[in-house]
Amino acid sequence: MIGRLNHLAIVVPDLAAAAAIYRDTLGGSVSEPVDLPLHGVTTIFVNLPNTKIELLHPLGDDSPVAPFLEKNPSGGMHHVCYEVDDIHAARDRLVAEGARVLGNGEPKPGAHDKPVLFLHPKDFCGTLVELEQV
Ligand code: CO
Repeated sequence: MIGRLNHLAIVVPDLAAAAAIYRDTLGGSVSEPVDLPLHGVTTIFVNLPNTKIELLHPLGDDSPVAPFLEKNPSGGMHHVCYEVDDIHAARDRLVAEGARVLGNGEPKPGAHDKPVLFLHPKDFCGTLVELEQV
């Protein structure tokens, strides 16, 4: 069911500093920051030949990544995103297997304007999993 690794996401305390590390130190191809109010984050994407790195920073008062940054003040790995062909079919199969989908269980438009869902880390080896329909 899961396909390619779409991206790995890293929460960072300072987006400009993180972008500079990925652009200048690591020599990566780094996008401009984009605010995603629906998800309470600002994102920068680092485009690699085989996948992407999503740099995340809290946006607004109610950001879901703010508690993560409080626990990990220097930042850290936040989630992995796998591609699926049909997000509703994927969700129904996972729910039937007993997995927990976060939020109301309905896909929301993600960073690439494609539908995404998040799965409970306790059901997936301690890692928050994002599914993106491509
Ligand atoms: Co993501």
